[in-house]
Amino acid sequence: MGDLMISRRAQAVPASPIRKLIPYSDEAESKGIHVYHLNIGQPDLETPKIYFDRIRSFKGTDAYTNSAGLMELREKFAKYYKKWQIPFEKDEVIVTEGGSEAAIFAIAAVADPGDEIIVIEPFYANYKAFAAMLNVKLIPVTSRTENGYEMPPISDFEKVLTSKTKAILFPNPGNPTGAVYTPEKLNEIVNFAVKHDLYVISDEVYREITFDGLKAHSTMEFGNYNNLIVIDSLSKRFNVCGARIGALATKNKAIFNNVLKMAMMRLSPNRLSQYGAVGLFELDDSYYKAMVDEYQKRRDIVYDELSKVPGIVLSKPQGAFYFAAKIPVNDAEEFVKWMLTSFSVSGKTTMVAPLSGFYVTPDLGKDEIRIAYVLKEKELRQACQILKMGISAYKSERKRVEV
Ligand SMILES: Cc1ncc(COP(=O)(O)O)c(C=O)c1O
Repeated sequence: MGDLMISRRAQAVPASPIRKLIPYSDEAESKGIHVYHLNIGQPDLETPKIYFDRIRSFKGTDAYTNSAGLMELREKFAKYYKKWQIPFEKDEVIVTEGGSEAAIFAIAAVADPGDEIIVIEPFYANYKAFAAMLNVKLIPVTSRTENGYEMPPISDFEKVLTSKTKAILFPNPGNPTGAVYTPEKLNEIVNFAVKHDLYVISDEVYREITFDGLKAHSTMEFGNYNNLIVIDSLSKRFNVCGARIGALATKNKAIFNNVLKMAMMRLSPNRLSQYGAVGLFELDDSYYKAMVDEYQKRRDIVYDELSKVPGIVLSKPQGAFYFAAKIPVNDAEEFVKWMLTSFSVSGKTTMVAPLSGFYVTPDLGKDEIRIAYVLKEKELRQACQILKMGISAYKSERKRVEV
C-alpha cells in the first residue's frame, strides 16, 4: 500500500502548453465571457462534403484495415506526391493516426533512449512530449523572431552535433512560426545530414498553405532518399483534424519495415476515416486555392492589426496559419492567464498561446505568443483588437478592465 509509482517517463511528458490553459478559458466562458480562441491550431473551415458523403455510403464491416492503411488511400497519397514532384510510391507510404503518430513512429525508429535529435526552436510543442515518451533528448538550434524565424546557419547545427545525434526534426511550413524554408537551406540541411549520417524527419503537414505565390519545398526534392523521412497529415489541408489521418513516407526500406512493425502493434488506422479520406484527394486546385486565399487574407488582417501594437516584434509569416510574435510583456503565460481572468471588452476576450513551451532552451519565448488565425475575418479583426487593447492595459498594470 502506498508504493504505487508513476514512471519517470510518464512524469517527464510535458502537458501541452496550449491545452494546459484551457481551464482558464473554461472558467471565463462559464462566467459568460466570449473567448476568441486564437490559441488552437485547428482550422475552422468546413470539411469538404465528399468526405462525409463517402463515409455515409460505406457498407459492410468496419473491420481493421492493413496496418499500413487502405491500399486505395496509399495509392492516392502516392499520386498526390507525384504532383508535388515528390517521388513516393504507394508501398513507401504508411497511413498513420495523424501526423502525430507518424512523428512518434519516426522518432522511435531512428533514436534509442538517450539519443539526441536536433530541432529548430520554436517548434511544434508536441515534439517534446513525443521525445519525452521515448526518452529521446531534443537538442535545440534557435531561430529568431527578428529575422522571420529563418533557418539558422549550418554552423549552429554543427555546434550541437554529438555522437548521440541521430536526426534533425522540423516542420516546414512552420508551426508556430509560419516560416517557409528556402530550397537552398533545405538542401544544406539534407547535405549536412548525409555528411554526418543523420536522418532528416521532415514534417510537411502544412505543405499547401503558403502565401504570396511562394511554394513549400519538400526535403524529398534533394535526393539522398535514404536519409529522409516525411511526416504528413490530412488534418490541416482538408480540415479533418478529427479524422486522425496522416502518413509516414520514406524510401528507406529499413525505416519503412521497422515503422510497419510499430504500425502493426496498433493494428490499423481508423477505417471509416480512411474511406472518407480517399475522396479528399479528388478535390481540384480550386479547393486549395480558396483555402490559401482565405488564410492569406486572415494573415494580412492579423498583421495589419498587430503591427499597430507599440513594442511588438513580428514578421509576416509565409505559410501555415500562425503568427509568432514578441510582445512587450515579461511573461506571456501570465499575460494569457490575465486576459482570461481579468480583461474583457464588452464581454469578450482573446486567448492566444504563450510560446515558451515551443522552445527547449529555458527562458526563451517568455515574451512571445502564437496566434492561430482560425476565425473568420470580422471576428478575427475584433479578436486582434481586443488583444491589442489587452497588451496595452496589461502594460499599464490595470486590473479588471471592462471597457
Ligand atoms: C507541425 C505539426 N506537425 C504535426 C501535427 C500533428 O497533427 P495531426 O496529428 O492532426 O496530423 C501538427 C498539429 O498541429 C503540427 O502543427
